[in-house]
Order: sequence, then C-alpha cells, then structure tokens
Amino acid sequence: METLFNITSNSLFSLLKTHKDSTFLPFSLLSSKSNNRVSFKIQDFQTFVAPRKRILKCISSDERMVKTSDEKAGLKKKNLAVFVSGGGSNFRAVHQAILSGDVHGQFVVLVTNKHDCGGAQYAREKGIPVIVYPGKKGEPQALSSDDLVAALSQYEIDFILLAGYLKLIPSELIQAYPKSILNIHPSLLPAFGGKGYYGTKVHKAVIASGARYSGPTIHFVDENYDTGRILAQRVVPVLANDTAEELAARVLRQEHKMYAEVAAAVCEERVVWREDGVPVIRSKANPDHYS
Ligand code: GRF
Repeated sequence: METLFNITSNSLFSLLKTHKDSTFLPFSLLSSKSNNRVSFKIQDFQTFVAPRKRILKCISSDERMVKTSDEKAGLKKKNLAVFVSGGGSNFRAVHQAILSGDVHGQFVVLVTNKHDCGGAQYAREKGIPVIVYPGKKGEPQALSSDDLVAALSQYEIDFILLAGYLKLIPSELIQAYPKSILNIHPSLLPAFGGKGYYGTKVHKAVIASGARYSGPTIHFVDENYDTGRILAQRVVPVLANDTAEELAARVLRQEHKMYAEVAAAVCEERVVWREDGVPVIRSKANPDHYS
C-alpha cells in the first residue's frame, strides 16, 4: 500500500523537520515541479499511524492528500449502523447504493425508538438486526445508554448514520464514536435547525421565512441537535407557490442521492479534516478536488 502526497516545499520542509529524529519517511520523491510543489509517495503508510497526525498538521488545509488506487483496493468494507424513527427512505437509498456496489460498506444493525417503523420493518426483511433504543419508560428490558454502547460494540461499527432518528444521541455514544456519527437534516444548516425543527416544521419555516433556496445538510453529530460540523449540502429552489410537502419531496430526492454519495466517501476514507476542524470530501473522479 502506498499513499501519494502533493504538497508545497515549505510543508515538506516542515515535515522533514518534524521527523528529523526518526527513521520515518521511506518515501520516494516523484517530482519537484514549478509553483513550489513537490510530490512523493510513502510506502506502507498504515504503519505510520502516529506520524500521520503530525503529517496532516504539517500539510496546510488547501493541500492535497491523495490515496492511490492500491490503497482503496485494500480498504476494508465498513460496518455501518443506522438509526431511524420513521419510514427510513434515506436508509433504503443508502442500502440500495450498497447493493449496487456504489458504497463499500454494509449495514450491520439498525437502532430505532419505534419498533414498528417502516425503517425497522425494511431492516428485518433484509435480515439486519434491530435494536430498540430508548425503550418505553419503566419497561424492564429497556436499554440504558451504556447498554446501547455495549450492544453496538459487538457489531464492530465503523460509522453510524442517523436517518430520521428523532431522539437525542446520548453523549456516551458520541464519545465512543468520535468523528464517526453522521446525521441528515432537511435544511441548509445552520438555518432552520435545532430542537423542534423536524419533518414538515422545517419546510413550513423555510417557506414562511421567504428563503428562495433550501436543501439537505449532512453533518457530524455532537451533543446538541444539528450543530455538529457540516460535511455536505445540496441546494434546491423554493418555488413561489410551494407547499411544505412539495418542498419536502424536492429536498428528500436530494437527500437520497447525497446520503449515498457521502456514505461512499466515508467508506472509502475520503473525508479529510481541515486544520480548522472543517471536514471536506475528496472527489473520487478528481482527487485534486475537495468539496
Ligand atoms: C429526512 O427528511 C431527514 O432529513 C430527516 O428526517 C427525514 C427522514 O426521512 N432527518 P426518511 O425516514 O429517511 O424517509
């Protein structure tokens, strides 16, 4: 496995300085071209997990880190958990993308607070185990948040996708899966998000505000509703005579496409965290491009 970097010579200098006292850097210089940039390959990058963080620090946010196709071929299929409370159309869209080979992952478990919701029924049909969390108050078998973390740990989950899950995620879970929990929200965050903004309420508020554009946001999850780092957004027009239902349907079509694309990026490890803490996605077609 090898990883290709293309960085400025200043960053390379900083990188060499950081590692001057180690035997690090079995790299091969590929080119030293104009505009002050150099390219190099590192063999067996995975054995340099600790230096990797320092490398990313050395490389400024607008620079590229490119994984070669060799590395992608060796990627493990990611284990995904999905959390739903409703029909689960986003879950189904990502599941379909997995079945068509567009997402290098598999759903290994579904968590729901509504045992019989459409998403849970679909999971059972597909043989995906269902966990009910949180259970009804006073129910003897109801799981605590620690029980949930313990139950999920058995599935060796890489990423958790929230797809219309209406309960707040317990902080124990957020701490157990740092930078690994995503949510989809049907507005352009940070607008029209937070407690109480769900379902058609979001679209009614968008229409009432007079906003001319709306669209879904996928963001990493923190301890509050809809405030985690934004990873991806799509824009749709808000038409003059839209009802909340019409706008919701237009946004939902984009949600399905975007969640499948983001799941693909996450499973291929194409999410890169910029120095300022903003996550961006490296394009598959054009590794020089981030969005
Ligand atoms: C979507 O609009 C999503 O943005 C929001 O909840 C809805 C879930 O819809 N978080 P579905 O269950 O995926 O159809």
